[in-house]
Amino acid sequence: MSPLFWLPPLLLLLTGMPAWSAAPVKFGDALHEKFHHARCIQCHQFNSGKSNGRGFTSHRSRYLCDNCHTRRITGLPRGEWLAPNEKLDYTGLGPAETCQLIKRNLGAGDPKAAMTRHLLEDARIRWALESGMTPAGRFPAVPGGYEAWAREAKAWIDGGMLCE
Ligand code: HEC
Ligand code: HEC
Repeated sequence: MSPLFWLPPLLLLLTGMPAWSAAPVKFGDALHEKFHHARCIQCHQFNSGKSNGRGFTSHRSRYLCDNCHTRRITGLPRGEWLAPNEKLDYTGLGPAETCQLIKRNLGAGDPKAAMTRHLLEDARIRWALESGMTPAGRFPAVPGGYEAWAREAKAWIDGGMLCE
């Protein structure tokens, strides 16, 4: 039989291959579970009334965060221990919704660079992954530490920040 007969199916097979061997990285694969760990959530829902965040409960009359969450305790420079606006509360959201929320609130500029800065260089994220220390002692950090986190976050960003 002529080799030309085999060429089209062979090409199809070869070009189809990468799709089977390297499935695209999605937010739900590894990042979602870590985003919803208590060390992230407790701070992200702090100012949210609908999630009954700490700003409305244990911390109702606590201001000047640095007075208690000192540099010695958190490892963060002064002025960095703060809770985000309530629009960054993603408590209870599924993988696709959490992913869309953080992409929506990324701010101006190149999304890839901004996401890399937030996920790999933010000192508060580092605290959640490696420390967990509060004025009342150490709370469990997000499992896996910074190494695993950085690998997973980079793979997701490089793969085009797919939500689903
Ligand atoms: C008077 C001291 C004090 C002040 C001021 C204070 N905190 Fe706290 N904070 C604590 C203590 C003690 C804990 C740990 C005990 C607990 O669960 O409340 C804590 C826990 C937290 C947690 C939970 C940490 C976790 O991962 O579970 C967050 C988030 C937090 N504080 C944010 C803030 C923010 C934001 C401010 C400023 C608006 C602030 N705190 C001001 C004493 C304080
Ligand atoms: C001590 C409080 C605190 C902790 C702990 C914390 N964050 Fe944040 N996070 C913030 C604040 C404040 C901002 C807003 C910073 C800004 O606007 O530049 C923010 C911003 C972000 C953003 C970028 C905003 C967006 O929607 O794109 C992401 C993503 C994020 N946090 C994820 C996490 C994850 C994941 C963890 C846990 C591994 C975590 N954060 C732990 C306070 C915290």
